[in-house]
Amino acid sequence: MIVWLQHGIYGCLGILLAEVIRDIYHMAGHYWAPLMAWHNLHHKAYRPDLTKTSEEIYRKAELLNDFPEAMVMVLITGLVAWWGDWGLWLGTIHSGLFAITSLARSQGLWATTDLTHLPGDLTTVPNPWLVNRSYHWRHHFERTTAYFSGTFTLVDRLMGTALSLKNKTIAITGAGGALGTALIHHLQTKGCRVIALTTSEQHQLPEGVEVAVWQLGQERQWQSLLQKVDILILNHGINVHHERSPEAIAQSYEVNTWSVWRWFELFLGTVTESRHKALKEVWINTSEAEVSPAFSPLYELSKRTIGDLVTLRRLDAPCVVRKLILGPFKSKLNPIGVMAPNFVARSIVALAERDFRNIIVTINPLTYIVFPLSELTRSLYFRLCSRPDYAQR
Ligand SMILES: NC(=O)c1ccc[n+]([C@@H]2O[C@H](COP(=O)([O-])OP(=O)(O)OC[C@H]3O[C@@H](n4cnc5c(N)ncnc54)[C@H](OP(=O)(O)O)[C@@H]3O)[C@@H](O)[C@H]2O)c1
Repeated sequence: MIVWLQHGIYGCLGILLAEVIRDIYHMAGHYWAPLMAWHNLHHKAYRPDLTKTSEEIYRKAELLNDFPEAMVMVLITGLVAWWGDWGLWLGTIHSGLFAITSLARSQGLWATTDLTHLPGDLTTVPNPWLVNRSYHWRHHFERTTAYFSGTFTLVDRLMGTALSLKNKTIAITGAGGALGTALIHHLQTKGCRVIALTTSEQHQLPEGVEVAVWQLGQERQWQSLLQKVDILILNHGINVHHERSPEAIAQSYEVNTWSVWRWFELFLGTVTESRHKALKEVWINTSEAEVSPAFSPLYELSKRTIGDLVTLRRLDAPCVVRKLILGPFKSKLNPIGVMAPNFVARSIVALAERDFRNIIVTINPLTYIVFPLSELTRSLYFRLCSRPDYAQR
């Protein structure tokens, strides 16, 4: 029994090895001159709706790009299996099947493309672990120097190419605050065009940002601006600390919950085209207060409410929704925060590029365990006890 389990584990490792070799070969097709012309054929073979541009180019690409790629996978996994556990041969068989199908396609014996190149509108958001059509579409039509992974997203995640920020238009609320300003700086260094959404004209915002002054309760006026935004970061917030007056309750919920919710829904309403499913995202800064005390009841209550609503809504959101789960950092809102906003912003960007859907940056080790568990159980509970929004499908 144990022996079979061992072979099974080696079998999985063999498949993983084959896929890592595929991704490395793929990258070589973009950066190593001898392979570039063949790999370019693969790119030329598809239109943005993933229909074939020409049967001839498609077949040639299968023969000169996909078939050699699969043969390299066969050879290397075969060599490794020769010296290692025989379970590893599973990786070679897996690679061999790709070699056979690509050869068959190149000869016109098999008309259907592989799963990530099936034609038609994109219907799902990019999957964080397994490459789906929306994930791979971005490699073809958004940025060819990112999204290299072919089956598992592991290599892209390790390299930070699972989300490309270059040339993206990003709008951020709370832009004049400590984290907002730091995030703008780090996003600009990644080549983003940033729109600073601020409620005050007094801030010294980094050079090169487009500034839009908005007011609480007037979020709906910004629908046309959101149409041209790829990523919306909802980052504004207040902390009334020890207060519990009716005004403090109303203000905490209005800023931290309802205003964020209005922006969120407004943005989801701009996801109208097939490509938006692959390109558009919303990041919501809910805070570590979702799962741990912030010694400010109204801050916790309002942040937990928006956190729960986002968990519920992202079950059938039409684009990627990320949560930012941050520990204490120094700002006007938290003068005794221990982390530097600059460190937090840099970490957020690095984790987003690795396609983390829940971006946790904190000094509290418990949050890294408690938050994912809490998010998983709440989202399971919400999924079981509510119906999908079919209008969004
Ligand atoms: N600091 C922490 O320890 C910590 C920890 C976890 C999460 N967070 C969250 O991180 C986000 C950024 O906070 P920060 O620490 O950088 O604090 P900050 O420097 O005080 O920035 C918060 C910003 O939110 C906007 N804002 C404040 N009151 C508002 C209102 N009534 N209506 C609309 N916008 C308002 C303001 O931006 P504009 O003037 O540009 O509009 C303000 O600069 C907040 O959502 C906060 O809850 C903070």
